Amino acid sequence: MALLLCFFLSLVISSATACDRCVHQSKAAYFSKASALSSGACGYGSLAVGFNSGFLAAAIPSLYKDGAGCGACFQIRCKNANLCTKGGTRVIATDLNRNNNTDFVLSSRAFAAMARQGMSQDILRQGIVDVEYKRVPCDYKDRNLAVRVEESSQKPNYLAIKVLYQGGQTEIVAIDVAQVGSSYWTYMSRNHGAVWNTSRVPNGALQFRFVVTSGYDGKWIWAKSVLPADWQNGVVYDSGIQITDIAQEGCSQCDDGSW
Ligand SMILES: *[C@@H]1O[C@H](CO)[C@@H](O)[C@H](O)[C@H]1NC(C)=O
Ligand SMILES: *[C@@H]1O[C@H](CO)[C@@H](O)[C@H](O)[C@H]1NC(C)=O
Repeated sequence: MALLLCFFLSLVISSATACDRCVHQSKAAYFSKASALSSGACGYGSLAVGFNSGFLAAAIPSLYKDGAGCGACFQIRCKNANLCTKGGTRVIATDLNRNNNTDFVLSSRAFAAMARQGMSQDILRQGIVDVEYKRVPCDYKDRNLAVRVEESSQKPNYLAIKVLYQGGQTEIVAIDVAQVGSSYWTYMSRNHGAVWNTSRVPNGALQFRFVVTSGYDGKWIWAKSVLPADWQNGVVYDSGIQITDIAQEGCSQCDDGSW
C-alpha cells in the first residue's frame, strides 16, 4: 500500500512543485442556514456544530475527495483588503460543495470572520467574495483522534465508525481493524464521508490501524486499543493517538509563509 501510494503521489507531484501548502485562488460564498452544515455529506451530523467553534465549510469535489477530505483544515482569506484581514480565517471541511462557482461555501460565522473588525455585515452583504486559501494542519490541542461507533452498527455482525478530530494535514486512505493483541486484520470500507464500515467484526476489544498520506507517500498509524469489548453505539472512543503528519502537495504556487 505504501509503495503504491508513493508511486501515485510521485506521479501527481512530478508535474508541479511539491510543497507543504499550495495557495489557490477562488471564490467563497456562505450558507444562509446554519442547519445546512450539520446535514453535511461527511456525516458528522450535529457534532459538526461543535467543531472549530462552528467555522465550517463545504468544499468542492477535488478537495472533498470522496470523503477523504472530510475534516481537512484550510486557511482562507478574502482578497479585498478594504474589507478583510490579511490573516483570514480557519475552517474545517464538513460537507461537499456541488456548486462549481466557488471552491467553498462557508458557515456564515466563518465567512464573517474574514472581515475586518466591524465589517462583518458588509462582507455578508456581498454574499460571494474572491479568496485565496491553503490547506493547513488541523490542531486539536490536547484532543486525540477519536472513533465514534455509529448507530447503524449491529453487534456482532456489522460495525460502522466515524473518525473524529483528525489532526495533521493528511488523508486517511485505509482503515483495518483487529482484536486487541491479534494480528488478524480485516479491512474496513469507506461508507460515506468520514464513516467506515465492515461486516467482518472481530470479537473482543478492538484496535485499528490507519493508512494516511504523509510526506511524499503514506504511513501506518497504529492505535493499539480503541474500542472496549463492550463497545456501544453512539459512543465516542479515544484512540490514544493523534496524527501530526503533513502530506506534500503538488502545485503551481507554494505558500511562502507570509500569512
Ligand atoms: C458548472 O456547473 C454547471 C451547472 O451544473 C455546468 O453546466 C457547467 O458545465 C459546470 N462548469 C464546469 C467548469 O464544470
Ligand atoms: C459499507 O458501505 C458501503 C457504502 O454504503 C456499502 O456498499 C457496503 O455494503 C457496506 N458494507 C457492509 C458490510 O455493509
